[in-house]
Amino acid sequence: MRLILRFGGIAILVAAIVILAVLPFATSFVEQWSRRDVELRSRLVFSTARDQVVELLAHNDSAQVEKLFERIATDERVLAIGYCEGQQLRFQTKNMPSFFSCAQAAQSDGESSFTIREQGGNTLISAFPLNVNGRAGHLVVLHDMSFVERRGTQARSSILLALAGVALGAAALVATIALLIMRRWVASIRQAMENARTGTPTPSVDEDLPAIGKEIHDVLQELDATRRTIEAAHTDWNPETLRATLSNELSGSEVIVVSNREPYIHNRTEDGIVLQIPASGLVAALEPVTRACGGTWIAHGSGTADRESVDAYDRVAVPPDNPSYTLRRVWLTEEEQEGYYYGAANEGLWPLCHIAFVRPAFRESDWRMYRAVNEKFAEAVVAEAKREDPVILVQDYHFALLPRMIRERLPRATIVTFWHIPWPNAETFGICPWREEIVDGLLGSSILGFHTQAHCNHFLDAVDTYVESRIDRERDSVTYGGEETLIRPYPISIEWPPTALAGQKSIEECRHAVRQRLGLPPDMRIGVGIERFDYTKGIIDRMQVIDNLFTEYPEWKGRFVFVQVAAPTRSKLASYRQLQEEAEALARDINTRHGTEGYEPIKLLIRHHGPDQVFELFRAADICVVSSLHDGMNLVAKEFVAARDDESGVLILSAFAGASRELSEALIVNPYNAHAMGEAFNRALTMPPEEQRERMRLMRDQVRERNVYRWAGQMLLAASRLRKRLRIRRLIAAGRRRASANA
Ligand code: F6P
Repeated sequence: MRLILRFGGIAILVAAIVILAVLPFATSFVEQWSRRDVELRSRLVFSTARDQVVELLAHNDSAQVEKLFERIATDERVLAIGYCEGQQLRFQTKNMPSFFSCAQAAQSDGESSFTIREQGGNTLISAFPLNVNGRAGHLVVLHDMSFVERRGTQARSSILLALAGVALGAAALVATIALLIMRRWVASIRQAMENARTGTPTPSVDEDLPAIGKEIHDVLQELDATRRTIEAAHTDWNPETLRATLSNELSGSEVIVVSNREPYIHNRTEDGIVLQIPASGLVAALEPVTRACGGTWIAHGSGTADRESVDAYDRVAVPPDNPSYTLRRVWLTEEEQEGYYYGAANEGLWPLCHIAFVRPAFRESDWRMYRAVNEKFAEAVVAEAKREDPVILVQDYHFALLPRMIRERLPRATIVTFWHIPWPNAETFGICPWREEIVDGLLGSSILGFHTQAHCNHFLDAVDTYVESRIDRERDSVTYGGEETLIRPYPISIEWPPTALAGQKSIEECRHAVRQRLGLPPDMRIGVGIERFDYTKGIIDRMQVIDNLFTEYPEWKGRFVFVQVAAPTRSKLASYRQLQEEAEALARDINTRHGTEGYEPIKLLIRHHGPDQVFELFRAADICVVSSLHDGMNLVAKEFVAARDDESGVLILSAFAGASRELSEALIVNPYNAHAMGEAFNRALTMPPEEQRERMRLMRDQVRERNVYRWAGQMLLAASRLRKRLRIRRLIAAGRRRASANA
């Protein structure tokens, strides 16, 4: 009501200003118009009487002149008439006012007219030149102008009344319109709030009504989503909170994951087709996330029975026992695998990014294949995308060129790329012949993630050194070719609680089972190392430490066994084959020198272990050693912590694995320092249970809280914020375009 009164008041105020502005003009118009009217009448009097007056004056017939003058002066407006000869008033009517003098009339030779204000009223005097017998004179006609003032006052009153009426009418009209609009707005807001509450989509609104209802509906939904997301960020991240984040923040969005390694491999064996989960940190992290989010995962179909297991579109629903997403397999020829996977990715980029003192090999033919395979995956992404703006999660160093290729094909996609291995410093990166192309390719991403801030900084330095771009160090973003890419650290993690933990027996049972399987006595202390047979993992250095341990701490001989599980990997490459041969020879040598009948200090198990077996080993161990020479994150360390729900066991962790930034309660070691490593082994084997518990609890809290759902959630939240910002930018740009088209 107050708003309506305000609208009416404003209308009245505007009308009052108009009246005040108009009134003086109206009065002066009436005065000028009346004066012109009287002047006209004076001229009429003069032209009617002139000849007669001249004739009578020529005969000096004063009686007739005065008679004529009196007759003309009978007109009610004519006050008096006179005849001036020079400055002398020779003839006049009786009521000629005393203030009149011929001096003013004689001032002009021609016709003149002027006003005299006397006795409270105005008198208009019109003087007309006459020539009588060669003598110059003026016929003067005096008009009483007091009627003009009366007429002006009347006009003012009438205009005032009319405008006041109009103002009141306008105020009433404005108030009524405001009332009607307010009613529609209120109804629209009520409906929008109701729709937001019930989750009903708000239909598009009339063009003539401001889109307030839709706006409020959107804002409420966004507030609600943000509230739920903030709540989720402060509670546990799990599949449900991740799903909720996805549906609140990226509602209706399509998620596509792209990686080289597939999460499920179908292999043909003597027992038929067997499903294998590969030894891959990437798969361990991403599989539970994709299970929670749904969508499509595009990967290289590398299993011997993969082709038999897909449908006509190369798709298979996974996980096989409870499908929740689609695995789309891409087939690569032997030649493609040679050039792209073994060559460019694993002989070029892998050693380039890891400081493990293995020289990278850069072959142009490999790079051509790498480019071609990236193109192949880009086509697969386009084929799988059902919308023009999917969220695409590109994984790892196999696809440095893919983000740009997708951006060119799907400009509205949100591309989140994650680089799972370290990023070297700019100088080291500079030896790569494809450095500009790699940076260009990655900057096709909307968001580019690394495990640590240090890797982000190295990448920004590489951008700074090798391409023309604008780097915003405060926002950690790069603007390149007009497009912005955010560079962010997202420390990868594992699912919590791990699926593999669910089927595990008690710690005692696991210890017993493992000891039995490996032929170890019940009091044998066990250390484990579990990884792919990769030179970055520091397996050789670790074995040498065990060798030293028996020299420096001989009391452990016969009482400690180190179980080294090494899954064969990239065995086509000479560097990997040599590593395996060297490790096998070293283990034999150590076992010969330090072993006894029935005692082998190193058990080297070169075969793939599934997650259940891995977790059983973790639970049976006293210590777990992760002594990578260089590692992006290393999820083995986190899995060991997750497996130890008894809060015992000690983790020895390399300072050069990303995980050491988070798991600072581990015994952090330099894998190149054999002496210090030996001390760490001894310390771990003698650590009191209480200290083990303290450390393990803190590490478990860390892994529980910063689990892989949080890792994915943080990236999806960043993607959602980016999409909202881009949506607003697009709306503003569209508005500008419309405005300039209408101009
Ligand atoms: O560390 C990089 C990475 O892609 C990991 O994510 C994964 O554990 C490993 O390499 C797998 O290597 P590949 O797929 O070559 O066996």
